[in-house]
Amino acid sequence: MINNNPIGLFDSGIGGTSIWKEIHDLLPNENTIYLADSKNAPYGQKSKEEIVQLSIKNTEFLLNQNCKIIVVACNTATTNAIKELRAKYDVPFIGIEPAIKPAALNSSTNTIGILATKGTLNSELFHQTLEKFQETKIIEQIGHGLVTLIENGELNSIETKNLLKTYLKPMIEANIDYLVLGCSHYPYLIPQIKKIIPTKIKIIDSGEAVARQTKNVLVEKSILNLENKLGKAVFYTNANPKVLENILKYKEEVIQKDF
Ligand code: DGL
Repeated sequence: MINNNPIGLFDSGIGGTSIWKEIHDLLPNENTIYLADSKNAPYGQKSKEEIVQLSIKNTEFLLNQNCKIIVVACNTATTNAIKELRAKYDVPFIGIEPAIKPAALNSSTNTIGILATKGTLNSELFHQTLEKFQETKIIEQIGHGLVTLIENGELNSIETKNLLKTYLKPMIEANIDYLVLGCSHYPYLIPQIKKIIPTKIKIIDSGEAVARQTKNVLVEKSILNLENKLGKAVFYTNANPKVLENILKYKEEVIQKDF
């Protein structure tokens, strides 16, 4: 059976496009709809209740476009709201969480760093994950200000570089050998991060794992699109579309809409 309904993705802004790229690479014939709620970014400073309400609003938007599966392409929304979303809707949800497990299991120095939002690091789900890795020293750092800078297109600004230096210094000093990027916006900062940290520190994010998990669920539920043609990608933003267009560097359709 062919199910060509789109895969829906949402994030507080443009960051989750790093996840969209992984999904598009793995499942090129799937149609996709991406929603960037940039008007309400950053989610990381909001209360759990606010994050749940915004996640419901985004989910409703995607379900109204007949999405067959929803990828919550935001660590902050996943760690604060996925339980509530799964309880409210029948559609399958895929979430993204910081890749603590592979970092902890592969670390030789037994010390890893995580850069994420306040909302993610303070969430119950994240604390449950930490409890499973009590043997590993985990240096946590909130990436205050980084999401807003990325949303403004400032990937390379002095302010961005200085903030990164400040956040990464204690991790380098603690001898981490893995840096976990626990926010879907941060993979866009990898070139800048690489200039600050020693090459022996490996950077990991969860994009590929999310794409694999999305495929597994589509197969399991028999809702994979088996059509043999490239899928259509539509991107919605409720803020300036230029930032999204610049970061995508493709000719996908970007639509500005108030939602
Ligand atoms: N991309 C979101 C995440 O993965 C950013 C959250 C925010 O808007 O603060 O956490």
